[in-house]
Amino acid sequence: MEGIHIVLLVVYIASVVLGCNQKRGERKPDIPTGSTECKGLCDCPNIIDVKLIVQNYFRPDFFEYNVTLRNTTQATLIRHLESAAKVNPHFSFSANYHPQWGYFISTINDLTGNWTLDKTYWRILDSDYNQLQLGASSYVPEHQELVIFNFTTGGH
Ligand SMILES: *[C@@H]1O[C@H](CO)[C@@H](O)[C@H](O)[C@H]1NC(C)=O
Ligand SMILES: *[C@@H]1O[C@H](CO)[C@@H](O)[C@H](O)[C@H]1NC(C)=O
Ligand SMILES: *[C@@H]1O[C@H](CO)[C@@H](O)[C@H](O)[C@H]1NC(C)=O
Ligand SMILES: *[C@@H]1O[C@H](CO)[C@@H](O)[C@H](O)[C@H]1NC(C)=O
Repeated sequence: MEGIHIVLLVVYIASVVLGCNQKRGERKPDIPTGSTECKGLCDCPNIIDVKLIVQNYFRPDFFEYNVTLRNTTQATLIRHLESAAKVNPHFSFSANYHPQWGYFISTINDLTGNWTLDKTYWRILDSDYNQLQLGASSYVPEHQELVIFNFTTGGH
């Protein structure tokens, strides 16, 4: 038992010294000394800010709004949507799960895309208006990233 504790302590100190969690532009999470949550800093996720913008200029009534998540755990986009729905009562979404691709965002605030009917869907873009190459279950936003959900049609 004593041996394991010493090994863990050494790993913890090595992590602090190497500062392996300090990537550019990212803040280190505040971990109390001796926290049981993390074995070392390297095991702790980054704490970041993420901004989500939702816009529908396709079908009346039009709407646009944003949700800013502060000091949130770096995670896949779908986790941030869950957080947004928790902190903002005006934001809601539904998703369909595909075993191969993960979650597909079908509905935001009661507005549902229908590809079969009119090729409408919630397109996910980065702050340069480029469509994300990964789905909501795979894409991991960086610190201070802006992600846009734009209701649009496939012709676009
Ligand atoms: C985000 O929402 C706030 C409050 O409604 C608004 O003042 C701000 O202009 C919005 N920002 C963007 C980028 O849409
Ligand atoms: C986020 O974390 C920073 C650094 O710990 C702190 O100064 C700030 O008040 C926090 N902001 C919110 C909204 O929790
Ligand atoms: C999409 O539109 C088709 C044709 O109108 C309809 O049968 C289907 O139920 C719609 N799907 C959704 C998810 O609304
Ligand atoms: C958002 O969708 C609208 C409606 O289809 C379209 O006119 C606009 O160009 C889209 N914006 C972006 C940034 O893709």
